[in-house]
Amino acid sequence: MNKITITVDGPYVVQGAMPLTHQHIVTNAQGESVSWRQGKDVAVPTTGNYALCRCGQSANKPFCDGAHQRIGFDGTETASREPYDVQAEHIEGPTLVLDDAQTLCAFARFCDPKGQVWRLVLESDQPAVARLVEQQVGDCPGGRLRVRQRAQSPSGGHTVEPHFEPSIGLVQDTVKGVSGPLWVRGGVEVLSAEGSAYEVRNRVALCRCGASNNKPFCDGSHASSGFNDGN
Ligand code: FES
Repeated sequence: MNKITITVDGPYVVQGAMPLTHQHIVTNAQGESVSWRQGKDVAVPTTGNYALCRCGQSANKPFCDGAHQRIGFDGTETASREPYDVQAEHIEGPTLVLDDAQTLCAFARFCDPKGQVWRLVLESDQPAVARLVEQQVGDCPGGRLRVRQRAQSPSGGHTVEPHFEPSIGLVQDTVKGVSGPLWVRGGVEVLSAEGSAYEVRNRVALCRCGASNNKPFCDGSHASSGFNDGN
């Protein structure tokens, strides 16, 4: 069973031997985020269980070395527990609906190229634009953005999501010179420190710099704090 358990003011405990890889944001000549490049694998214990640093201060990143105790890390979880559908605003285009829960922004900026997805979705009756929106939204690591086929009924519509095997990415934002969150993919259960489960989603970004104001999720603070894991 793949699972990530948050510990009180301590690390993420990972169960299930999920692959752990560096994931680099690839930019174009203008410095815009356009795709992901998988980097090197990080060997994980064969037991299948390991602890990943959440405070950002481990000398053995991405793994925990107990630094959270030395620095008195406050890992209080402050994120909303409302379902994504309740948190999100909905922007309706002609064939697609863009859902946007701003507090989950991990500052990866895949939404920006070609005029930004919020404008592009309004032109989603053009097939090439619709595919671009689906790609840009699917690359959003924190799942702030989601896209759906527009339904005839107001109750929903088929969600367009990339397929991911359960896995964890260590985000590297080279153009900004910083490291980013844990990119948790493939519908992995995340349990809070007090034992309740967060909504299971295909893409979530967990803070590993210690600076997020929306713990356990990344809020982009790694960029302003200059977090760098040395990779
Ligand atoms: S890793 Fe993004 S805010 Fe901490």
